[in-house]
Amino acid sequence: MAYENIRLDLEDALAILTIDRPKALNALNSKTLQELESALHALPATVRALIVTGGGDKAFVAGADIAEMASISAAQAREFAALGHRVFQTLEQLAIPTIAAVNGFALGGGCELALACDLIYASEKAKLGLPEVSLGVIPGFGGTQRLTRVVGKMRAKELVFTGERLDAAKAKEIGLVLDVLPADQLLPHCKAVVGKLLKNGPLAISQAKRVIEYGADQDLRAANELERQGFAVLFGSEDQKEGMKAFLEKRPAAFTGR
Ligand code: CAA
Repeated sequence: MAYENIRLDLEDALAILTIDRPKALNALNSKTLQELESALHALPATVRALIVTGGGDKAFVAGADIAEMASISAAQAREFAALGHRVFQTLEQLAIPTIAAVNGFALGGGCELALACDLIYASEKAKLGLPEVSLGVIPGFGGTQRLTRVVGKMRAKELVFTGERLDAAKAKEIGLVLDVLPADQLLPHCKAVVGKLLKNGPLAISQAKRVIEYGADQDLRAANELERQGFAVLFGSEDQKEGMKAFLEKRPAAFTGR
């Protein structure tokens, strides 16, 4: 399918989704969000990992589209936020691991997009933040909640109240990004991470993601019950049989995802 504001490139089991609207620093307007949603729903079953990045050389995503939001009503704002929430939840709930390759500005909705991915890596020139209060609003695509879960309540309040833009090193220091790479090493690094995880059982990674995601919002006992269920379910898979047999036979496992 042809998209106007995004690009989807397939490299075997890896899909690279690029938000590609560089004239507006890849800002998320409704059309871009709708394209993102379609692309996420239409990912081929052969895709086992997704990298999300920004087109052009300046931005990952500079936020939700301010020009589109400037004159909308409260009811329309609710709809716009609902669209963003739905798309980012779709991304978050994909059964495959997702990586944000933050190659420039990741502000507002851009930072929120990165936060909806499983792992975030940044280039040295990345700048991250939630500057919405400088526009007289608050983050509307899950940022207040996902940022709080990643960096803690007090740091999240500091970032949201000040709207401060963090450089990549500071973002790493507070745990908002995992690692900082020279710009030309960012995608190769993300692909190397994908290379590592593709060697492992896809069903196991998918269960691990589900259990970590849902468990993080529950108390420890309920969360551990989720883990027990996920652990047990995998013993009905061919991947478990192959993974353990391969270990005992001292050879690499050939996982099929069944
Ligand atoms: N929405 C719409 N257009 C945007 C945009 C955005 N979020 N960010 C940048 N652009 C546009 C600019 O308007 C400009 O367009 P023109 O060339 O037509 O004038 C173009 O992209 C280039 O931007 P700048 O000239 O501003 O580039 P710069 O290098 O001087 O500054 C920047 C870069 C610091 C990222 C600056 O563009 C900026 O501050 N952008 C807005 C960041 C922001 O506030 N994001 C939060 C949006 S609100 C939100 O996201 C709500 C939510 O949670 C749902």
